[in-house]
Amino acid sequence: LNLDDGWAKRSLLVSALISWSGFAATRWLVPIAKAYTLRAGLFGYDINKKGTEAGEVRVPEALGLASGVVYLVCIVFIQQLHHYDHALGAGIMPKGRDWRSDYNAALATICFMLFLGFADDVLDIRWRVKLVLPAIAALPLVVAYSGGTSVVIPKPLRGVMGLPDFLDLGFLYTVYMILLTIFCTNSINILAGVNGLEVGQTFIISCAVLFHNIMELSVPDASANKAAAGAMANGHLFSAFLMLPLATTSFALLGFNWYPAQVFVGDTYTYFAGMAIAVAGILGHYSETLLIFLLPQLINFVYSLPQLLKIVPCPRHRLPRLDPRTGLLHATPNWNLINLVLHLMGPCGEEALCVRVLVMQVACCAVGFGAKWALQGVFHD
Ligand code: UD1
Ligand code: MG
Repeated sequence: LNLDDGWAKRSLLVSALISWSGFAATRWLVPIAKAYTLRAGLFGYDINKKGTEAGEVRVPEALGLASGVVYLVCIVFIQQLHHYDHALGAGIMPKGRDWRSDYNAALATICFMLFLGFADDVLDIRWRVKLVLPAIAALPLVVAYSGGTSVVIPKPLRGVMGLPDFLDLGFLYTVYMILLTIFCTNSINILAGVNGLEVGQTFIISCAVLFHNIMELSVPDASANKAAAGAMANGHLFSAFLMLPLATTSFALLGFNWYPAQVFVGDTYTYFAGMAIAVAGILGHYSETLLIFLLPQLINFVYSLPQLLKIVPCPRHRLPRLDPRTGLLHATPNWNLINLVLHLMGPCGEEALCVRVLVMQVACCAVGFGAKWALQGVFHD
C-alpha cells in the first residue's frame, strides 16, 4: 500500500473534504457555543491584559468543546467512508483484523478525554488530580490495543550493548502508552498563557504529523517484508485520517482564539487535542518520531519540573508580567518557555510572544524532519 493505490489517494481526498466541512462547522458553532458558556458562567479574564480595560472583559471559556464535537463527528464520517472502502474490497487494515476496533478505540478515548477536559473546566480540578485524567481516558485504547508491543533499538546501540533489533516490552508497553498520553496532553496544556498558543502549537504539530504520514506513504514500497511494510503504511494512513480534521477544526478555532482572544479554548481543548495526537502516534506506530515534533513541549515540560514538583514555588498562573504603560510583556521568575523566550529575546507584545514560540515550533518540526531523513539508515533499517 502507498499513495499509488487509487483508493488510498481517493480516501485521503474525501477525508480532506470532510475535514474542510469541519472547518466551516467549527466557525459556525463557536459563536453559538460561546453565548452558552458565558451564560453558564464559564468565562475567564484575559490576564495579560489586566490593568487595561480589555483585562476586565469576561472571555468565554472551554470553547474546545465546539471544535472537539465537530472533530468527533468528522471522524465518524471518515469511519463510514472506510466502511464503503472495505465493502469495495479496499481496506485500510490487513485482512483478518477488524479495522473498526481501532476506530472505536480511538473515538472512545478521544471522546472520554474531551469529557474529562470539560469536567476540569467546569469543576477546576486540582493540578495533581488532573495530571492523571489522561490515564483514565486512555483505558479504552489500551484495552483494545492489538498492535505490536516492541520498540526498535537504534542501530548504534545494538552492537555496543548486545541488544537485539527489537525489544518486546510486553506489559511495559501498556505503561509506555499511558505515559505518552499523559505527556502529550499535559505538555500542550502547560505551554500556554498567551492568546493563540495552545491552538497554534496543536495546528502546527498536526500539520507536521500529517506531512510525516504523507511522506511515509509516498515512499515506494521496496521492503522485503511486505506484511510489515503494509502494516506501517496502514498506520500512517489511519493517523492521517485522525490528523486532517484536527488540523482544520483547530485552524477554525484559532481564528477566534488569536490575539486579542474572543474565546478561550480551555483544558477541554488542550486535553482533547493532546489525546488525539497521542492516539494517532500510538495507532500509527510512530510514537518515537512524534516526540521529535513535540520538542518545544518537551523542553517546556523538563524546564517546568522544578515548579511542577514544587521545589520552586508554583503560582496558579505562570505568566509573564504586563507593563500596562507600554503594553509589553516582561519575564517573571516562572520556569517555563514563554518566560525564557522573554528573558532571552527581550520584552515584547502578547501577539509577538505567541509568534516567537510558534516559529520555534515550526523550526523544531523542520529540524526533526531534516534529522530523520538525513540519519535514515543510521539509526533504523
Ligand atoms: C496552565 C499553566 C498556567 C497557565 C495556564 C494558562 C502550568 C502548570 N499551568 O494551567 O501556568 O497560566 O495554563 O492557560 O504551567 N488565560 C489567559 N490568556 C490566555 C489563556 C488563558 O489569560 O491566552 C487565563 C484565563 O484566565 C483563563 C485561564 O488562563 O481562564 C485558563 O487557565 P487553565 O487552562 O485552566 O490553566 P491550567 O491549564 O491549569
Ligand atoms: Mg489549560
